[in-house]
Amino acid sequence: MSPSQTKSIDKAAEALIAGQLAAFPTETVYGLGADATNPDAVARIYSVKGRPLNHPLIVHIASAELLNHWAKDVPNFALQLADSFWPGPMTLILRRTQLAKDFITGSQDSVGVRVPSHPVAQELLKKFTELGGLGVAAPSANQFGRVSTTSAAAVMEDLSSLMQDADVILEGEDSDIGIESTIIDCTGNLPVILRPGAITASMISQVTGLETKEGTSTLRVSGSMEKHYSPIAKVVLDVQALPGDGFIALSDIQTPEGVVRLCEPRSTEEYAAMLYSSLRLADQLKLTRVVVISPSGEGLAAAIRNRLAKASAE
Ligand code: TXA
Ligand code: MG
Repeated sequence: MSPSQTKSIDKAAEALIAGQLAAFPTETVYGLGADATNPDAVARIYSVKGRPLNHPLIVHIASAELLNHWAKDVPNFALQLADSFWPGPMTLILRRTQLAKDFITGSQDSVGVRVPSHPVAQELLKKFTELGGLGVAAPSANQFGRVSTTSAAAVMEDLSSLMQDADVILEGEDSDIGIESTIIDCTGNLPVILRPGAITASMISQVTGLETKEGTSTLRVSGSMEKHYSPIAKVVLDVQALPGDGFIALSDIQTPEGVVRLCEPRSTEEYAAMLYSSLRLADQLKLTRVVVISPSGEGLAAAIRNRLAKASAE
């Protein structure tokens, strides 16, 4: 990390401690962070994003050692998951401690916690912890209902006019996974996937030896709302593209005549990494319609199809 990058990370950690917001890269998507113990700072996340107040936030911590501040009665299978997949693209829903106040959890008895692996996020959280911080609440750094951001430029475009001078937008490598973390509800006897992502059901079962359910829960997950992750352009799945349409498909699928190719990912991993920036590009190009050919397969491909279903919901 360059000295100037370390310096801007230090500045961002100080801004968080002072109650300001800091947008920062993670390996999944960019987050819009605030000190998770500061109600006023957290309230500003909601106003900047335009997010309904009762939607819970994920608390980002520097390492699993800080977990006990936020969560209690952590089951053994959750510890195994933390051991195997943190730092990384996984959020665990656990019973909350007193520290996880209603303004973080949407008044639920559970709290979402994640240790991100992106080096800038790691450094930011380490510095924030050294300064006495315990956790950074951060939703994806995008306006509510819109496509998540995977680069600092996209955050600038989406949120900078809504942020204050003392807030920070940290730059860093683009998010390399490109879709949001797998959310696993660990408050029951078995792990339940509330939002699919790069940590897949078979990976979870392998580590815990438990059956992994993919399910809806009665908990509120804003990512589970039908209309979500949408660009302005209309997203249509798996139909013939027409001249003037945007087009997203794996590289082995040819570009139909007169169509604007937005990306040509060579693998499912590249597909996830390019998806949100391609949907944003469609809006920059003022396209009215994007035809997306869904990737097939399980695991990450299924997580991509989950986001595509939402992006294309009427
Ligand atoms: O990859 C990610 O998870 C990114 C990066 C920034 O870490 N964050 C993210 O945050 O996607 P957000 O707020 O856009 O989505 C978090 C989801 C929401 O749908 C929220 O409802 C759910 O997590 N969530 C948080 N706490 C929860 C809880 N206690 N119970 C159920 N769902 C919860
Ligand atoms: Mg989001």
